[in-house]
Amino acid sequence: MYPRIAGSAVLRQLRPRLLPTSKAAVVNVRWGSAEPLREGEEEGKMNKEEISEKKEVVSSYWGIPPSRLAKDDGSGWRWNCFRPWETYKSDITIDVNKHHVPKNFLDKFAYYTVKTLRVPTDIFFQRRYGCRAMMLETVAAVPGMVGGLLLHCKSLRRFEHSGGWIKALLEEAENERMHLMTFMEVAKPKWYERALVFIVQGIFFNAYFLAYVVSPKLAHRITGYLEEEAIHSYTEFLKDLDEGKIENGPAPAIAIDYWRLPPDATLRDVVVVVRADEAHHRDVNHFASDIHQQGHELKEHPAPIGYH
Ligand SMILES: [Fe+2]
Ligand SMILES: [Fe+2]
Repeated sequence: MYPRIAGSAVLRQLRPRLLPTSKAAVVNVRWGSAEPLREGEEEGKMNKEEISEKKEVVSSYWGIPPSRLAKDDGSGWRWNCFRPWETYKSDITIDVNKHHVPKNFLDKFAYYTVKTLRVPTDIFFQRRYGCRAMMLETVAAVPGMVGGLLLHCKSLRRFEHSGGWIKALLEEAENERMHLMTFMEVAKPKWYERALVFIVQGIFFNAYFLAYVVSPKLAHRITGYLEEEAIHSYTEFLKDLDEGKIENGPAPAIAIDYWRLPPDATLRDVVVVVRADEAHHRDVNHFASDIHQQGHELKEHPAPIGYH
């Protein structure tokens, strides 16, 4: 008899810890939903229509209006492609003249590859910097996405953290795409330019993908030098704007909202903030290549996130 009494006493003590909490402990909450029960409604008393209606609402966004967003001045937010919390003020104090001096064979290979790629670009665009910027941004947005994708897959394969590098590289790709969304407001692409982008993207995406698989050190160095070339292009763009060779018109609305520019901002202001972004990308990619160069993995050094 004694063992049976002792056993039931122990069971009474342990039950709340070992078994799921009883229904009485979660009153006024629907099962499978965070919404509280209506007054007078009891759990299990919902009819079948109500249950199926509830399931439809939570399983689809059709018919649900997006949340209303506003700018700092209270006016409505008009963009779906980015939201107020993704906007930022560009750090234009960043050094735009910094250059990574090629030190070894891999650096020199990356540097001269980029210099060689610049030759046909100069011939094709000459000093049409609006068009040149738009076309180059279609290429510039690829490395971050490829690097981010490959690091993402590596993180999944190896069950390990990325040190924030996936996010940093995807942020870079998104930022470059916003440069494109801005410059296509300034220069509308012609049919043959669209065709050129189609071909160049097909070649560049695959070439960069292979380069990143074989040597992330080389891939990041190439991107670092591509960013140095982008800075040079935007500096020349600014010269032409200052000399009146390119009209300094109003900044596109998307740029004013994305970089939190004043309402009377001009194209020149946009080029200045975009050039600062490119300088940041240059530093991120040379840093990534340096990490590999020193025999480390990116995850060992926290990624520079949160600039954008
Ligand atoms: Fe860019
Ligand atoms: Fe860039």
